[in-house]
This record gives sequence, C-alpha cells and structure tokens, in this order.
Amino acid sequence: MATINTKPFGRLPTGELVDVYVLTNAGGTVARITNYGAMLTQLHVPDKKGNSANVVLGFDNLEQYLAGHPYFGCTVGRVANRIANGTFSLDGVTYQLARNENGVHHLHGGKKGFDKVLWKAEPAAGKQEATVKFTYRSPDGEEGYPGNLDVTVIYTLTDANELKIEYAATTDRPTPVNLTNHSYFNLAGAGCGDILDHELMIAAKKYTPADKTLIPTGEIASVRGTPLDFTSPTAIGARIAQVPGGYDLNYVLDSGGGKLALAARVRDPKTGRTMEVLTTEPGIQLYTGNFLDGSLTGLGGTYKKHYGFCLETQHFPDSVNKPHWPTMILRPGQRYSHVTVHKFM
Ligand code: GLA
Repeated sequence: MATINTKPFGRLPTGELVDVYVLTNAGGTVARITNYGAMLTQLHVPDKKGNSANVVLGFDNLEQYLAGHPYFGCTVGRVANRIANGTFSLDGVTYQLARNENGVHHLHGGKKGFDKVLWKAEPAAGKQEATVKFTYRSPDGEEGYPGNLDVTVIYTLTDANELKIEYAATTDRPTPVNLTNHSYFNLAGAGCGDILDHELMIAAKKYTPADKTLIPTGEIASVRGTPLDFTSPTAIGARIAQVPGGYDLNYVLDSGGGKLALAARVRDPKTGRTMEVLTTEPGIQLYTGNFLDGSLTGLGGTYKKHYGFCLETQHFPDSVNKPHWPTMILRPGQRYSHVTVHKFM
C-alpha cells in the first residue's frame, strides 16, 4: 500500500507557496519531492536489516535551495549538460542561449533552468504506487530556446522499491530537449562520508571524449584499458586519482537507448544497499561530486568532495552540434519521452 501526503515547504520571493509531496511505499521507503524544480529532496531507503537512511544530498528547507546549490535532486532542462558556446543552428537559424558555464558554454538549461521554476503538481495514490505529476510550460524564448515547450515529469514510488521518473514534452516549434534528474546519491546515507568505496558498474563499453571544458570532441572511444572502464563492478575510488578532478563524463550505453535497459548498478559495501538505474536514454553522465567543497551543510552533515555521485541519464552532451549523434531535436507533432527507474535492493 503506497501513500502520498502534501506538506508546505516554504514560500518563493514572489510570494508563491511551495509544497513537498511525501511518497511512502509498503516497504517503508519514503521519497520527498517538491514542486520547486520538480526536485527530489530526500529518499529514505531501508537496507537488508531494515535500517533506513536518506540516500540523496539535499536540504530540509526551501531557503537553502533558494540560496544556491549544485543541482541537488533537480529536474534539469530544457537541455541538460553542455552546449558549446551556448549556440546551435536549427533549420538554418542560429540560436544563442544563456552562457552560464565557464563564461562561454550553456549548462543545464541556463541561468534559470527547469530546476529553478515552480511546477504545477498533481499527487495521486494507487494500490501499489504513489505518484506525483509535475507540469510546466516553458515559454518561447526562455533562456534563448525556440518554441513553447509543454513538459511533464511523473515521479512514481512503487511497492517494488522503484523510483520511476517519466518525462514527456511537446512543442509548437522545433527545439532541442534533453531532460534528466540530477540527484547526488550516497547509498550509505547523505553526509556520512564519501562514495569512493561504492562499487559501480556501468553498462557502457564506450564514452564521449571531451575537451578541458567538458565539450565532447565528437569522437566515440572505448573505455577499455582506461580508468573510465566500469563494465565490471569496481570501486569508484579505485582509479579516481588517475582522472584529474574526478569523474565527469558521458558514457555511451551499450543498449543504444530507445528501450528500458539496465544502465548502471551501484552497491555500498558498508550497508549492502544497492541501486540499479534503468533508462531509455542512450547516454549517462557519471559525476562524482568533484565540485563539492564543504561549503554546504545539508541533510546528514557537510558535503565535501566526492560525498555524492550522480548518474544523469541523457542524450550525449552538445548533441545539438553533433549531427552524427542521436538527435535531441523535438518537432511539432512529435512527443519527447524518457523513462528512468532507480531500483533499490
Ligand atoms: C553536471 C556536470 C558537472 C557539474 C555538475 C554540477 O553533472 O557535468 O560538470 O556542472 O553538473 O555541479
């Protein structure tokens, strides 16, 4: 039996009220999701012994989210990840987007992306799952993007201990779309230390090499013989010293995208808590919290370098400038859809 409760979370500077939806399943897993940024703020998951821990980095109050944070738990869009120089051409027209990364690039939807808007919410409880559906109309020209985009993000917590995120979008003009969730996980519990001992498997033999500013070169390369190879379970920290700064790269999933398939599995050896990520997307960004520097204190404690990892299911970064890669262009009459499932055991 799954349940959902709505609670007040705070008030935006505009005076608008923000809520948090508390989804609970039969096994005692609890997800807290807010309509500000369609954001997962807490996820309490029991381990095999029944000890529950909050496995995502975040805050218990809206004020700290408003004060600034590196995309904890957010829905990211209109285009997650980077667009080189914030520019692209589509049907002969060149568009300039907000440049909010390294002074030149576009990152995670711009200055005010989907992570910083208030979504409409519809909570619902079924027999074996609880659901909250968020909708948002991104107006034509927002952050430089063409077309009005109607976006839906549905979070479902099931009694099978899955947190499913379903994304859909339609547009009235051709536009790029690439939605993801930016949760930082620590399966031992947020704030409880770093994630370097977590064993990670990523179902990807290839990745997209990038330049120093993390813009892909356009090549697809093999992970074989490199510290990027997670085709068999390996501790995240085992070779991280060989990767300057830590992991922050896009993997080309073996599945090719299009159908729901296993993309990654992560296990915390201390608690045994394990998470599988399944997705319909062709790519996944592994980011190991390299920029966390101890300046934010949230649920469970202070967040230092490598205190969380992200697995952002997505189309490849800068695809909009790489015509040979899976397209992220959505046209009127088409429907963008993306499903990602986080399964805990
Ligand atoms: C993504 C990027 C990182 C960083 C984080 C947010 O995962 O790939 O480089 O920008 O978001 O700090």
